[in-house]
Amino acid sequence: MNAYDSMVAQKLNALKSKRDVIVLAIETSCDETAAAVVKNGRQVLSSIVYSQIPIHQKYGGVVPEIASRNHVQKLTPTVEQALADAGLTFSDIDAVAVTAYPGLVGALLTGVSYAKGLAYSLSLPLIGVDHIMGHVAANYLSHEELAPPFTALVASGGHSHIFAVNDYLDFELLGSTRDDAAGEAFDKIARVLGLAYPGGPELEKLAAKGDPGAFVFPMGFNSGKGLDFSFSGLKTAVINILHTAKQRGELINEADIAASFQAAVVSVLTQKAIMAVKQQNSRVLALAGGVSANKTLVSSLENAAREAGISFVCPEWKYCGDNAAMIGCAGYYSLLAGQADGLDLNATARRDRSR
Ligand code: KG4
Ligand code: ZN
Repeated sequence: MNAYDSMVAQKLNALKSKRDVIVLAIETSCDETAAAVVKNGRQVLSSIVYSQIPIHQKYGGVVPEIASRNHVQKLTPTVEQALADAGLTFSDIDAVAVTAYPGLVGALLTGVSYAKGLAYSLSLPLIGVDHIMGHVAANYLSHEELAPPFTALVASGGHSHIFAVNDYLDFELLGSTRDDAAGEAFDKIARVLGLAYPGGPELEKLAAKGDPGAFVFPMGFNSGKGLDFSFSGLKTAVINILHTAKQRGELINEADIAASFQAAVVSVLTQKAIMAVKQQNSRVLALAGGVSANKTLVSSLENAAREAGISFVCPEWKYCGDNAAMIGCAGYYSLLAGQADGLDLNATARRDRSR
């Protein structure tokens, strides 16, 4: 055991009897440079999110190399701001948590390398966090009574999964998209409609002016008993309608297209999530990920959960998208379980780290 490892082993032991555990968390998996300070897992002392959206907007999507370079520039000021907002210094920190996977590998590496440097220089435990578990943990920040077990629907730009959350660190994958993630489908259709990146929120605004029943689009795997779903057929159907109208020189009501597309995505996610809840006999359904900012999805799940006689939770708006507070929360539960990573922690693009 090297000097760092033995210091960390001692600190992990000392944390068991410490009253307040303060985690500094870092998130750089995509186009947000984020840092947060979280006390005892659920109390957010500060949360700074520096969004690169204006930088990537002119390319119509995230450019990975540009994202990584901006993370490198923004990491130090973002972490310093998070500490200042919390009224703390590095000496008050008990552990460093960082998103290690999944995401853009170059972007992840900037945060992981920074966190490793910090953990090593301060002799602090380092915790590599699963970004998806982080999104689910965002619910703990907004709902203090929430505790596993429950069913979670994670709908983000890169992932759409349904999990049985058996315990804080025990996630069982029940179903997922076979192709596009929900946010990715929103972004692609928004792009075809000429809306700015990221397309999800823009498409939601346009959809509010349209009729969700104007077009009937296919809903992938909707009637099947399985919990997997698909958005590629829906996406192709929407693009075909738009292209055909353009070729014929016909005017098409884009707000109706947006509203009908959104209705189809929401219907698939709602039906599969409720199916999972029933299969699991869950008492609670939790929504997470960037798409949880979508009001139509939230109200559809709320209504379906009420009809099924279960509770529904979703994060406050500020914790729906990528942020470091959720990473600090998820990291805290790893720390509680005595799980810390060595300095050989690596970033990986996929969730399944064996591939
Ligand atoms: O979780 P997130 O911030 O990043 C990833 O981990 O991917 O999710 C970002 C995704 C983007 O695809 C964005 O368009 C989508 O969430 N999104 C929305 C809304 N707000 C963000 N999709 C639909 N409606 C929204 N209001
Ligand atoms: Zn995310």
